[in-house]
Amino acid sequence: MTDPVLYAVRDGIAVLTVENPPVNALSQGVRAGLIAGLDKADADPAVSAAVIIGGGRTFIAGADIKEFGKPPTQPYLPDVLKRIEAMKKPVVAALHGTALGGGFEVALTCHWRVAIEAAQVGLPEVKLGVIPGSGGTQRLPRLIGPKLALDMIVPGNPIPAKKAHDLGIIDQIVAGDLLDGAVAFAKTVVAEKRPLRLVRDMNDKVSNVDPAVFEDYRKSIARKAKGFLAPWRCIDAVEAATKLPIDEGLLKEREYFFECMDSPQRKGQIHAFFSEREAAKIPDLPADVQPKQIASAAVLGAGTMGGGIAMNFANAGIPVKILDMSQEALSRGLGVIEKNYATSVARGSMSQAAMDRAMKLITGTQQFEDIGQADIVVEAVFEEMGVKKDVFGKLDTVMKPGAVLATNTSTLNIDEIAAATKRPQDVIGTHFFSPANVMKLLENVRGAKSSPETIATVMALGKTLKKVSVLAGNCDGFIGNRMLHGYLREANFLLEEGALPQQVDKALEDFGLAMGPFRMGDLAGLDVGWRIRKGKAHLRPADERYSPVADRLCELGRFGQKTGAGFYKYEGRDAIPDPATEEIILASAKEQGIERRAISDEEIVRRCMYPLVNEGAKILEEGIAIRASDVDIVYLFGYGFPVYRGGPMFWAEQIGLDKVLATIRGFHKIHGKFWEPAKLLVQRAEAGKGWNDR
Ligand code: COA
Repeated sequence: MTDPVLYAVRDGIAVLTVENPPVNALSQGVRAGLIAGLDKADADPAVSAAVIIGGGRTFIAGADIKEFGKPPTQPYLPDVLKRIEAMKKPVVAALHGTALGGGFEVALTCHWRVAIEAAQVGLPEVKLGVIPGSGGTQRLPRLIGPKLALDMIVPGNPIPAKKAHDLGIIDQIVAGDLLDGAVAFAKTVVAEKRPLRLVRDMNDKVSNVDPAVFEDYRKSIARKAKGFLAPWRCIDAVEAATKLPIDEGLLKEREYFFECMDSPQRKGQIHAFFSEREAAKIPDLPADVQPKQIASAAVLGAGTMGGGIAMNFANAGIPVKILDMSQEALSRGLGVIEKNYATSVARGSMSQAAMDRAMKLITGTQQFEDIGQADIVVEAVFEEMGVKKDVFGKLDTVMKPGAVLATNTSTLNIDEIAAATKRPQDVIGTHFFSPANVMKLLENVRGAKSSPETIATVMALGKTLKKVSVLAGNCDGFIGNRMLHGYLREANFLLEEGALPQQVDKALEDFGLAMGPFRMGDLAGLDVGWRIRKGKAHLRPADERYSPVADRLCELGRFGQKTGAGFYKYEGRDAIPDPATEEIILASAKEQGIERRAISDEEIVRRCMYPLVNEGAKILEEGIAIRASDVDIVYLFGYGFPVYRGGPMFWAEQIGLDKVLATIRGFHKIHGKFWEPAKLLVQRAEAGKGWNDR
């Protein structure tokens, strides 16, 4: 193995190059190497300054996340930073790629920072359930003031070098070669005999700060950060920077850092980080399979889903044609897209120029022949097998050979759809989540005949569209919606047994879900599920328990928010508990002879969440999901499961699969067949193992 920090001298400037692929994480060897390099530079009379730079694609992208949760090894990162601050010679950080977390903290400790324009800097620790632990919360506010520091640290999003330069974080943007620029900068500093400049000595911006800054900030994140620990500790730490001398502030920061590091939230969020990357890997694809190039796209259907999907392509710079049979639907669909973009521009999250660029890439057509040359077509028409088969039959005749024929179905059989064509190898599911321009999940569904190339293409497409892709197998509802089934069933049963929609929603929102099932149902529209239930009614055994509450609401025209009433009644977007719903619930319980009882929030969480785990286990057992963490990713990015719990499968493992199984067995005794434990769960729990243990 090569040395993780290379030492060289150029024109009297020591160059310390971090070489720890892929992202130059601050592993123990890098920390030790930096200290050794700085010692050498300080001691060498022929060296007048030092530059720290990253080899390969990036500056240091942060702490080595794989070391999290393990006993820390010396030297610690603060030791490296102390060594930088003790330097008698100038130290310049030269940034490219992503200078994140501990990497950015290294840069903030150096006397000066230069960067190429394409670089980004940031403190994303909060996304991993921790806070910056090596001075980020103490030095950044000293450099740019607490308010701007909070804006960077609490959401954890990196900013481009240009902006960092405007804010005074970066001292110079280098055009051309970064190392040349950094060495030249260091030589200038030496020639001009500039006094060494340490951020720790800059106290102006953290003195006499109005405490209201922090109170206001806390209020502003209250809804979004509910349930999380790290965002609040980020604010506490930045506040400490305004109240304590730097060394005391650093200790306080470290204390908060370890509090977060020891919390289960950190475990959940790190699990999510690695699982997201793992999901992209498909073990049974031949290593040499290449994704097809997607340079143009078509979308069938100009409805909400089709429009949202088209926006994804346009945002990625891929021209996309939307096909719809009626001119009216087409005009309406394009109008909605334009309105969505305009909202983003008004909010400041998109520039007018970017909107114009995207709109230019989206065109409408009513002719199948117009889309024949697209590299991929995504069908988002009415969710009905007959309609889908018809459409795929047509696509088979018009699309050029080799085009990917994708369906956005959320439940239908991919193989049956593929059989409507003579090229099932090119057919695959690409299940986007609504609103498709916002939701991060792309659930790709392979059919029995989807070719490796087709699979690789849609997985790569996910990355191009900035989605998180998971590959699922073909079954009713695939991974996500199949699991949702039991969750919704139990939520409805709980109503009859004694809870009310507001109690169920609150218990699950307190657990961390973005929205409880009844508010979610009202938002999505209850009529959709009603139609599906009516269509499948003949399949239900007569003796099977069934809650008619949602159907009764629909019979009254209560389809949710869009009709002003569903499980709740609505004043604007505010959901108000409705006595009329309660009456329907009570009547339904009475008809079925159910004696209502007090139901605890704990029972609500278990009754609604354990079906996710049990069904997830069946999905794994059947090979529908490649790994347990893929199931987690589906729930985190598609269904608003709290990221700090790591996903339903990880969460269950943290509780202990044996305990989860015992509860499920208890429910099985009381509530019957729906709670039949999954074989895989029984096997793993009884062997005292987790999902992945051999
Ligand atoms: N520690 C250890 N491994 C890391 C890492 C870190 N800080 N950051 C990334 N990696 C690994 C990834 O797991 C992945 O490994 P794999 O190829 O075995 O799956 C590999 O590096 C490449 O990362 P990936 O995210 O796929 O590449 P990218 O180019 O899309 O993004 C980053 C690069 C650095 C922007 C992104 O990885 C990232 O945000 N990392 C976390 C940075 C961070 O939070 N730092 C603060 C830590 S306190």
